[in-house]
Amino acid sequence: MSSALLPGSFDPPTNGHLDVIGRCSGIFDRVVVGVLANPSKEPLFSTQERMNLLKDCCADLENVEVSAFDGLLVDFAVELGVDVIVKGMRAISDFDYELQMAQMNRRLSGIVTMFVATKPEYSFLSSSLVKEVARFGGNVGDLVPPLVLDALREKLS
Ligand code: PNS
Repeated sequence: MSSALLPGSFDPPTNGHLDVIGRCSGIFDRVVVGVLANPSKEPLFSTQERMNLLKDCCADLENVEVSAFDGLLVDFAVELGVDVIVKGMRAISDFDYELQMAQMNRRLSGIVTMFVATKPEYSFLSSSLVKEVARFGGNVGDLVPPLVLDALREKLS
């Protein structure tokens, strides 16, 4: 049985995240979406809110589960017993840092990181930009799932 851990802050989940999760769901038998409980920046959504949003967004993907973690990603990966860590790769600007993390994580644990190229239409998309645009009343309706859009409106109102 193949399994993958897809980590991130998901503050909030975007269509780019869901694209990668959906494709992993079709490749691996088990996919764990790992929500970093305490990202370096103060999150807009609490850990529980981010987990609930992801669970709702992935409700139709039976092999996807959502779980929170803190501390080192590789410790969580070992605890879960997953085969690989999967990261979305949006553009070449992601590459340097992602490669560093992949190599460090491999050194720490032996666990391999695989990269999934995001769809080109999401190559500019990040949770940070979504929050900034939404904060100033810009339209992010085609960048996040409807239930995330509702949650953003409520949070920022
Ligand atoms: O969605 P993000 O914020 O880009 O996700 C970053 C994340 C959660 C994948 C990264 O910050 C991470 O792995 N954090 C856990 C702490 C850790 O293991 N740090 C060492 C990385 S080599």
